Amino acid sequence: MKPKVYVTRRLPKVAWDELIEACDAELWDEEFPPPHEELLARVADKEGLLCLLTDRIDADLMDSAPNLKVISQCAVGFDNIDVAAATARGVPVGHTPGVLTDATADFAWALLMSAARRVPEAVDYVRAGKWNTWGLTVLLGQRVYGMTLGVVGMGRIGQAVAERARGFNMRILYYDAFRQPEAEERLGVEYRSLEEVLAGSDFVTLHVNLTDETRHMINARTLAMMKPTAIVINTSRGPVIDMDALYDALKAGVIVYAALDVTDPEPLPADHKLLTLSNCIINPHIASGTIATRTLMAQMAVRNLIAGLRGEALPNQVNSL
Ligand code: GLV
Repeated sequence: MKPKVYVTRRLPKVAWDELIEACDAELWDEEFPPPHEELLARVADKEGLLCLLTDRIDADLMDSAPNLKVISQCAVGFDNIDVAAATARGVPVGHTPGVLTDATADFAWALLMSAARRVPEAVDYVRAGKWNTWGLTVLLGQRVYGMTLGVVGMGRIGQAVAERARGFNMRILYYDAFRQPEAEERLGVEYRSLEEVLAGSDFVTLHVNLTDETRHMINARTLAMMKPTAIVINTSRGPVIDMDALYDALKAGVIVYAALDVTDPEPLPADHKLLTLSNCIINPHIASGTIATRTLMAQMAVRNLIAGLRGEALPNQVNSL
């Protein structure tokens, strides 16, 4: 008999085919994530769970599923999962690093360029019929080439963004909880304190995991350290930025612009005050969203799931058991 698994959202076909070859799968085939109580009930008799970052995977869920052998997240970040609780119960947790690095870095770069050159405002301007003549001072933005980029979190994605910045002849400062000598050697990035990175950069791009240390790392105090012309880009996790403080800073001109692919909360309500600001770009958490990348992520998640069901180490396991 194939092991029973629960899948919290539809997967690309190649990944789904691979999954149902090996598993007896039940799918939550809805647009919105399963409510927590529903998820608990559905997982109760399953050996495997393939979930998304929109699902809260907590100790209660694990306790309600005594046969659970593996939790496989279809994302690289896993702050929605209580990994310590999984480890305490001997349950491996999988994620999908690597395959989304370039797509995410490309998107961070797209946000950086869009904010620097005010692309969404320019699109709105034309759509609103305001393009009546060529103007010397219309929609002036910030220079990118040759400027200084601050990378907060020099992991895989931070390094991939730094690679892109080298093509723009940028000086690259970085802060990370751990110094990255290999990246310094390969990319010429310069290690600084967080404060120095924030104060010295024209663009600050965030690539940290969400942890107790990084939650609200960007707040009123740290925003005030930045240049008044600074642009902040966030493709990591929304709560790394204190959204109220960001709103105040953008409104008061403490910094000039922000471009966010992630927010707190997600989704951001359509009447959220940040959406009233023309100097804030908000996207709906799509940085890894290319067809190829999302397919690879789903395949990787399926392979982690199957390995866990077989009692093998997951190809990409978060916790050591
Ligand atoms: C997306 O945010 C991911 O963590 O993969």
